[in-house]
Amino acid sequence: MSTTHEAGWAHAPGALRGPSWLGAPTDVNELVATLWSSTAHKDESGDLVIGGMAVADLVAEHNTPAYVLDEDDFKARALAFKEAFEGADVYYAGKSFLCTAVARWIAELGLCLDVCSDGELTVALRGGVEPERIGYHGNNKTLTELRRAVSLGVGRIVVDSFAEIERVASVAAETGMPARVMVRVTAGVEAHTHEFIATAHEDQKFGFSISSGDALEAARRVVASEGVDLLGLHSHIGSQIFDTSGFEVAAKRVLALHAQIASELGVAMPEMDLGGGFGIAYTTQDDPKPAAELAAGMREIVHQECRGLGIEAPRLSIEPGRAIAGPSTCTVYTVGTVKPVTLDGGAARLYISVDGGMSDNIRTALYDADYSATIASRRSDAPPTLARVVGKHCEAGDIVVRDEFLPSDVRPGDLLAVPATGAYCRSMASNYNHALRPPVIAVKDGRARVIVRRETVDDLLATDVG
Ligand code: LLP
Repeated sequence: MSTTHEAGWAHAPGALRGPSWLGAPTDVNELVATLWSSTAHKDESGDLVIGGMAVADLVAEHNTPAYVLDEDDFKARALAFKEAFEGADVYYAGKSFLCTAVARWIAELGLCLDVCSDGELTVALRGGVEPERIGYHGNNKTLTELRRAVSLGVGRIVVDSFAEIERVASVAAETGMPARVMVRVTAGVEAHTHEFIATAHEDQKFGFSISSGDALEAARRVVASEGVDLLGLHSHIGSQIFDTSGFEVAAKRVLALHAQIASELGVAMPEMDLGGGFGIAYTTQDDPKPAAELAAGMREIVHQECRGLGIEAPRLSIEPGRAIAGPSTCTVYTVGTVKPVTLDGGAARLYISVDGGMSDNIRTALYDADYSATIASRRSDAPPTLARVVGKHCEAGDIVVRDEFLPSDVRPGDLLAVPATGAYCRSMASNYNHALRPPVIAVKDGRARVIVRRETVDDLLATDVG
């Protein structure tokens, strides 16, 4: 390790620079506002405050690691989608994060809910979501799941295979209840972040291909099935998307099929769903569009296409998950160890180990996702140094934040907070190494409420029957 620079080893010649998008901050204490929920700020002593609560006070009561959810931020984003898409339906994608409190907020705010398992359906009902405001997804729903969904009068079941069309029809006959379905189609568009690929075929498990004719055939079979109503077509092109041109290509292909079904099968479908996938800012690399801009763009595409095809525009629906839940929440950890590791060439990387890791945020390991972090419990006057925040699991890939400038005096006992962890972190959390999954604490107007409690050893042992 080189210590030849007065500001510390990380400033020595040959020190690590980090990725090109990550600049060293002028003040390492400052939050990058676009990455944090709307009420998050730091007070004079450097304490992170969210929903009027100092994170250090929350930790004193609830310990770490913990997810801290800014309730006003979550609700404002849900409402922004609802208002921007007025005249359309917004189905919050529960897979991003769902618990009874969140389901209740979604119901109270007047949004609909997208579920994809019996467990999610159970939570939705427990939160008071009306069955007719629920959309049910999944490429392999069981007969039992379909029976429950149809018997409850779930608003839409998104069918994904020919076998499922038969199953839904048999359940409709058995229960005497009508099944309302959408046909999930693959439009040959795969979108990720700033790029999309338009191809004839998609080599993946979801949906019926439009180009192969399967999607039209699926619609034909639904129409021919007694007790099954065809509401429309559904397309979901990917996640963490910023460029709306992928939606445009998908909407054109879906609407062309919509018009073909009207002319060939004589069925005017009332609805169309363009799925979710709207991107959020995890780091300064990301520049998401506000909901109003997305809505204006999508409406324009749909109306222009429908005019061209000479058909009436179906009622649009969308399914944002990440864009509502993601920015609302940060994860708070306690630093346990700090270790400079010398690399080839003599530069060193500061490894900061925290008391969670890939069990509460698998996204870094699984998708190479980038995150940021800040020191949450004090001000530091130390210069910034390039650090890597890692967890406590027995795996070298257990990384929470791959690259971040943090004060070079970070030490055991400091609190670190990682923003934008509201989507697909708690919902994909695991008990790896028998870790106890962290609580979700909702903060609002200076009050904190645990909406998902921390797991206990008894919870872990409850399923271990010995
Ligand atoms: N609708 C459908 C049919 C979906 O499959 C998904 C996400 C959504 C809506 C919501 O997408 P969102 O707006 O949240 O991007 N675990 C991955 C994301 C998987 C998304 C699966 N489907 C991650 O952590 O990035």
